[in-house]
Amino acid sequence: MVDRPEVDWEALRLRAVELMERAYAPYSRFRVGVAGLVDDGRVVAGCNVENAAYGVTLCAECGMVSELHATGGGRLTAVFCVGGDGQALMPCGRCRQLLWENGGPDCLLMTPEGVLPMSAVLPQAFGAEHLRHAEG
Ligand code: THU
Repeated sequence: MVDRPEVDWEALRLRAVELMERAYAPYSRFRVGVAGLVDDGRVVAGCNVENAAYGVTLCAECGMVSELHATGGGRLTAVFCVGGDGQALMPCGRCRQLLWENGGPDCLLMTPEGVLPMSAVLPQAFGAEHLRHAEG
């Protein structure tokens, strides 16, 4: 468990709940919302958007990362993802990779076991530095 006092976790959770309530999840009925604090103080957020072609579904984190870049970029520093009960939900594997790309190892994530850095949530992650090694 790590924490930074400057992160207002309850405000992030409430924003994630707002987004969860806007989820488009007619197939799974599993609604997800996520909110992330950006290093310039912005808060970005997203909800899951499903599709009749199930595999095309966008996780909530996809929407959040899209808003991050659409509104000026920056780095995620703290993320709160919730399920339909408004409580912390662990991002799927693919979305942990999205968080890693946009927040790195020190980005904090609220988990059912408390606040953890992404380095604990996605250990030995694949990242941009691996691509650089391939350049020879
Ligand atoms: N889902 C997310 O939005 N984020 C995750 O990290 C886990 C899964 C969504 C996708 C799908 O709409 C529903 O939850 C059930 O898998």
